[in-house]
Amino acid sequence: MTEQAFNLVNDGKGGQIKFPIFISQADMDLIEKEFIVKDDDVFVTTFPRSGTTWTEQMVHLLVNNGEQGEQRLTDAVPWLETLPHRPNGMLEFLKTIKGRRLFTSHLPHPLMPRRDNTTAKIVYVARNPKDVAISLFFHDQSKGGYMGTWEEHFQLFLKGDVHCGDYFDHILPWWEASQHDKNILFLKYEDMKNDHAGSVAQIASFLDISATPELIATVVTLSGFKSMTSTPTTNFNWIPQRADVPSHFRKGDIGDWKNHFSAEQSAQLDALFAEKMKGTGLQFDFGDGVLLP
Ligand code: A3P
Repeated sequence: MTEQAFNLVNDGKGGQIKFPIFISQADMDLIEKEFIVKDDDVFVTTFPRSGTTWTEQMVHLLVNNGEQGEQRLTDAVPWLETLPHRPNGMLEFLKTIKGRRLFTSHLPHPLMPRRDNTTAKIVYVARNPKDVAISLFFHDQSKGGYMGTWEEHFQLFLKGDVHCGDYFDHILPWWEASQHDKNILFLKYEDMKNDHAGSVAQIASFLDISATPELIATVVTLSGFKSMTSTPTTNFNWIPQRADVPSHFRKGDIGDWKNHFSAEQSAQLDALFAEKMKGTGLQFDFGDGVLLP
């Protein structure tokens, strides 16, 4: 049995996409009906394995003046799609949030709660699809019960038959929206790696936080890979994961795909990437510093 268990949810465009088994259509319906976006809200939104957790930590630290606090990161920046499962329900949980509300989400653009007439902000993070594909394979083994091969998972990724659907269907509408919506900041994982401090400053400015050099330095240190993996409230050790495959924090590099992709797989994804990205103006660094396409 190589199949991973999923729920199917409406994709907002007349079709359906796969979501993790613990998020249902009923959850999505509840969020659509009852979740009211507020002016000060911040959403860290991504296709899975694009640098969500890292960005959550940067946003959390910036909003809290560099203080980590006692909460686990999954409570400080809760996952929107799972809010209906909080012990007393979503609305009671939302009442308990003190200060600026921060959320994580993997929702495609059409499913995101409406922000009309609010100043709520979205930090969208994208990552080159080859590193996403390999990172998602290990993630699905570690936390999703996936038992198939890398090649089988790669084919699912190409077909968009993975958690949150098609990679390109996720990032491209967010990219397009970011071109005319000043409340969406579109970041790339590779840029954050290449200029961590610059990215922290960019996020601060986007969130209207006047960050001192000291605050930026603190955020860079506490959101570094080593710090996040050794801090009990950020290391995700409380999340059930398989012990025999890499954990949530796997490598944190650009270009690790080169250690796993065959030449044929690389060519297949290159062809799809060129077709999907044509005319979008969106480029990625795949690990050799060259922006493609
Ligand atoms: P790898 O599997 O390539 O190592 P997400 O949080 O969206 O699930 O993304 C997980 C990916 O981000 C993993 O990539 C993980 O190692 C990487 N990551 C997590 N924290 C990071 C950090 N502080 N710096 C750089 N990469 C980080």
